[in-house]
Amino acid sequence: MTTEMRKTGIDVVGDMVAWGAHFCLFYETKEDLLDSLIAYCKSGLAREEYCLWIVAEPLTIEEATAALKAAVPDLDRHLADSRMEIVSARDWFLQDGTFDGKRLTDAWYEKLARVSARGYAGMRVTGDTTWLAKKDWGHFCDYEDGLNEVIGNQSLAVLCTYPLATCGAPEILDVVRTHQFVLARRHGNWDIVETAALKRAKAEIKGLNEELEQRVVERTNQLMLASEALREAQTQLAHVNRVTTMEQLSASIAHEVMQPITATVTNAQAALRFLNALRPNLEVARRVLGDTIKEGNRTIDVIERIRALNKKAPPRKDAFEINGAILEVIALTRGEIVKNGVSVQTQLAEGLPLIQGDRVQLQQVILNLIINAVEAMSAVSEGARELLISTEKYASGGVLVAVRDSGPGLNPESFARLFDAFYTTKPGGMGMGLSICRSIVEAHGGRIWASRTAGPGTALQCILPVG
Ligand SMILES: Nc1ncnc2c1ncn2[C@@H]1O[C@H](COP(=O)(O)OP(=O)(O)O)[C@@H](O)[C@H]1O
Ligand SMILES: [Mg+2]
Repeated sequence: MTTEMRKTGIDVVGDMVAWGAHFCLFYETKEDLLDSLIAYCKSGLAREEYCLWIVAEPLTIEEATAALKAAVPDLDRHLADSRMEIVSARDWFLQDGTFDGKRLTDAWYEKLARVSARGYAGMRVTGDTTWLAKKDWGHFCDYEDGLNEVIGNQSLAVLCTYPLATCGAPEILDVVRTHQFVLARRHGNWDIVETAALKRAKAEIKGLNEELEQRVVERTNQLMLASEALREAQTQLAHVNRVTTMEQLSASIAHEVMQPITATVTNAQAALRFLNALRPNLEVARRVLGDTIKEGNRTIDVIERIRALNKKAPPRKDAFEINGAILEVIALTRGEIVKNGVSVQTQLAEGLPLIQGDRVQLQQVILNLIINAVEAMSAVSEGARELLISTEKYASGGVLVAVRDSGPGLNPESFARLFDAFYTTKPGGMGMGLSICRSIVEAHGGRIWASRTAGPGTALQCILPVG
């Protein structure tokens, strides 16, 4: 059931009526009737609805049209579009002079189908009942009652108008019974009478809404607490994983740092020798000292990279060049790569757009992928150990980074589960690496997946977002 509220244009209804409303208006004078219906139709036209005004005496189609035109200047256009129709009650209700509730109900369904096929927001109808003969009253009440079912699930609102003068108490009771609520307009004043059924329904809806609101508040609080805890846990795990990965890497890193330091010392000794010579060679000493500084800076670089990777820092949004970030990670893992007899190849595309995101976090992803690949390949003794790291522009935006190895590949279980937290096939493994990779990549709006390559081996690929 659609619960969208529609403006009735009639102030007393609080200006709102839900689709599916079937309500009635008792009036005394033609002016009171015109006043109400013009507001009703005007507000429907302003809301892209289809409006049908079924007019009965003492009002004529001409009077209704003229009065509405005074309130809606572009009425002619709406009439020409058949968006607004003003028809006579006798034509609508009494097609061959007799009242037939069944035929009429079918006519409503047909009208609704045609109106919704034309794409209107809904259908707003008003009809008067002065044409009704006493003998048809009972049938008409049955028909009004049945209308509640027709209207119930449709984008349809129906306002039935009854002249108070000709309604006796039994008729008024019938009308009240068959409508959701009742308006009365007397001497320019409005009364609204809610029927018992409507009151009950409203109270029920209010209760349900309150309960729902309460539940939404509770649930939101719970979710906020949970997601905070989750984020905290993830940051901690990411840190733990990074530290563990770094521990695995420490031999490699030691090698990485030892090399420039050894070179620095050797260079400094050489420079000293040139300066201490009988005839000091300043030219060569200067060059050697220049190299010494370079090596020293390399050491600082390496240490800074390690420090950055080990830091627990909130994620950043940098614009950075991915190939450089990858080469740094390869440099950090070189010792591990060499030790395991792996040969590395890179195919890094030129002119890639800058990546948008946390450089260190994304380096951590690549680090994990490389270490996994090296570990997978070390587990088999036969065959070449080849690692291929590539970047390319991804067709639908972003950069595709792929890490391919010639290792044992993935069995169906690993293929299905490798991104699961704590899934590991390694004796000392933690099984958090790829799970963290996925959450980092997805937090960046990217995607990461594994594929089984044509030969042996595995490819892990991710798409990273660009600015
Ligand atoms: N390149 C790869 N080749 C084969 N298996 C892999 C590869 N990368 C990951 N896996 C599988 O996925 C599992 C989960 O990896 P990961 O989440 O990094 O945890 P861990 O490395 O601690 O086991 C690994 O234990 C391994 O079974
Ligand atoms: Mg791992």
